[in-house]
Amino acid sequence: MEKYRIIGGKPLYGEVEISGAKNAAVAIIPAALMVEGVCRIENVPEISDTDMLLTILSHLGAKCRMLNKSTVEIDCTRVQINEAPYDLMRKIRASYYLIGAMLGRFGRAKTTMPGGCNFGVRPIDQHIKGMTALGADVEVSGGFVFATARGGRLKGAEIYLDKVSVGATMNVMLAACMAEGRTVIDNAAREPHIVDLANFLNSMGADIRGAGTDSIRINGVRKLHGGSYTIIPDQIEAGTYMAAVAAAGGEIRVSNVIPKHLDCISAKLREMGVEVEEDEDSVVVRRMRPLRRTNIKTQPYPGFPTDMQPQLCAVLSTAQGTSVITEGVWDNRYKYVNELRKMGAQIQVDGKTAIVEGVDRLTGAPVAACDLRAGAAVVIAGLCAEGETWVEDIQYIERGYQDLVGKLRALGADIELVEEDIPAPAMPQIC
Ligand code: EPU
Repeated sequence: MEKYRIIGGKPLYGEVEISGAKNAAVAIIPAALMVEGVCRIENVPEISDTDMLLTILSHLGAKCRMLNKSTVEIDCTRVQINEAPYDLMRKIRASYYLIGAMLGRFGRAKTTMPGGCNFGVRPIDQHIKGMTALGADVEVSGGFVFATARGGRLKGAEIYLDKVSVGATMNVMLAACMAEGRTVIDNAAREPHIVDLANFLNSMGADIRGAGTDSIRINGVRKLHGGSYTIIPDQIEAGTYMAAVAAAGGEIRVSNVIPKHLDCISAKLREMGVEVEEDEDSVVVRRMRPLRRTNIKTQPYPGFPTDMQPQLCAVLSTAQGTSVITEGVWDNRYKYVNELRKMGAQIQVDGKTAIVEGVDRLTGAPVAACDLRAGAAVVIAGLCAEGETWVEDIQYIERGYQDLVGKLRALGADIELVEEDIPAPAMPQIC
């Protein structure tokens, strides 16, 4: 077990290059299962979630070859869907994309119920609704999902999602792209990774239109062929570094980004008195003044992303005044607040609302990463806190941030990865 040790109070300067988008990569790698031929995928983030998915594909018979740290070639021509590594599938949320991919190509699928970060109930009823509408019999039992296409091949259908869901939109898109006939997904999610998955599938021969709007139309094709594709930059990784400099102070260039995808984050940071300047494929973020309060409400794209809520909460905990955060996507995404409180943050949570009373400074403490973005939030708090912060359970952070320590160190942060046997100081009693 490893931990991060952070000595806070150092402003950040320099340039950080953003990796490929996790939430696009974790759908595109399973999508490669549908392709007969070689998919060359570039800008794959080097994180444990993508490693796990590549391992799962390899177990299924895919040939996966890393050409360099961020480029992989996947050949699923000979894949058979017999038994799969269910223990691995259970660990990650994105294993649910294997349902759509397997059903689409083979007409049947057996996967586990998905794992991933725990912030309340994470149902997959909309995925099942979509697959059922496409003509699959889906059964969930004993922690497994079994799905079979009636007649061996799915059939296009009109599907209205009752909830705007990234996962259900992508999963139905996967299943439908090799179904017979035309599918329409209404009330679809519009996140950049939805467009990226559609672009990937189209470049392999699919016919998907309207991705990025709330109505996606898919004309099923018989086969997908090999090709090359480059994953978009990670909106949330970029936003996390923007939040880090907002909290710690300084000036950084966040490069290899699509500034348009960051608009919602840049707008909030500007309201807080942070300067954000956009270039073609980078943004410069500068924080020289004290931070001002603001309110945040998370919503599906193009609203403010729930995956940036914990990081912005960490930033707001030292802003002047009282900020109100409303979580509009997940039922329970405030578990990390207890960790920030250990560092002196004044935050009250009532249901989906958090009231953040800005304090003059945070103080370093031993804290835990409760999930991926919660982990990013405590790291950000540690960067601006006075003294030493120890972060444990960093395996959550490494699920989604490529080389967080290396990138922050290059910006001048005092953060290091330490082995468990160096004891963290005991947690002071909080009354
Ligand atoms: N929902 C349902 N039924 C469903 C599916 C979703 O009620 O069948 C509800 C959820 O409970 C939630 C809302 O719809 O309240 C949105 O869930 P969504 O399906 O959009 O989430 P997801 O696909 O499971 C992805 C990301 C999450 C991110 C959300 C929202 C992946 C692997 N995960 O999850 O990312 O928070 O979209 O944008 O793409 C992260 O990266 O830290 C992360 C958690």
